[in-house]
Amino acid sequence: MTVKEHYDNHLGHFYSWMTGDFHTKTNEFKRFLTDNFIRPTSNKTAIDLGAGHGLQSIPLAEVGFKVLAIDFNQLLLDELKVNAYDLDITVIKDDIKNVVTFADKPELIICCGDTLSHLGNKIEVKTFILDTVKSLDKNGKLILSFRDYSTKLAGKDRFIPVKSDDTKILTCILDYEDEFVNVTDLLYEKTNDVWIQKVSTYKKVRLLASEVVGQLEANGMTIKFNQIVNRLTTIIASKG
Ligand SMILES: C[S@@+](CC[C@H](N)C(=O)[O-])C[C@H]1O[C@@H](n2cnc3c(N)ncnc32)[C@H](O)[C@@H]1O
Repeated sequence: MTVKEHYDNHLGHFYSWMTGDFHTKTNEFKRFLTDNFIRPTSNKTAIDLGAGHGLQSIPLAEVGFKVLAIDFNQLLLDELKVNAYDLDITVIKDDIKNVVTFADKPELIICCGDTLSHLGNKIEVKTFILDTVKSLDKNGKLILSFRDYSTKLAGKDRFIPVKSDDTKILTCILDYEDEFVNVTDLLYEKTNDVWIQKVSTYKKVRLLASEVVGQLEANGMTIKFNQIVNRLTTIIASKG
């Protein structure tokens, strides 16, 4: 199953349920932006790569950016449009790998929520980082958040209870290979008093935080922030 098929046929249908209360999450990211002085300073253009239903696009627009929200899943983009109400957000259905084509010299590019690991392999990640840096304005900033998959999970530790309520139970099962993690999202959904199993598997790239930092620095970026936030390695890098 490709990543796009996984989202289109499976995860896209319950992604916003999985991520929890929208306002709590958007407020969290807005606080992260203000705490780290991320605000428009030149042309105001920010690109949100793998925007989903808008957990980062909405706060970016609320602090004053003109946001281009890129994603290839129509369902999540439709949710984003509703969440965006009258904010300055342009929704573009496209592949994030086309980053160089979306805007002329944005001052900010973000790729958050482990979207980076959805690329096809480590070579694609390397090219993607190069392209994002190339696209940025001269003092532009890049924000990445992703899971560090350096530690292999084995045995029963591979079964991660993600979320459950009266109608849904979601478990994520991880199978480690050298360069990839096979991710199975196992959902039980109750319909008319009957539990239905829905299951789909896709591959994520096993990212190492040290490799991503190394590639950013090799492309001339300065790391301004590198911490684990909500279990994701979170990096702010600056071109100037
Ligand atoms: C884990 S979600 C993160 C969404 C959002 N940033 C968040 O934190 O909630 C990954 C998102 O990236 C999108 N995506 C993954 N690979 C993509 C690609 N190559 N091009 C466009 N969108 C992609 C998926 O459709 C999904 O919405």
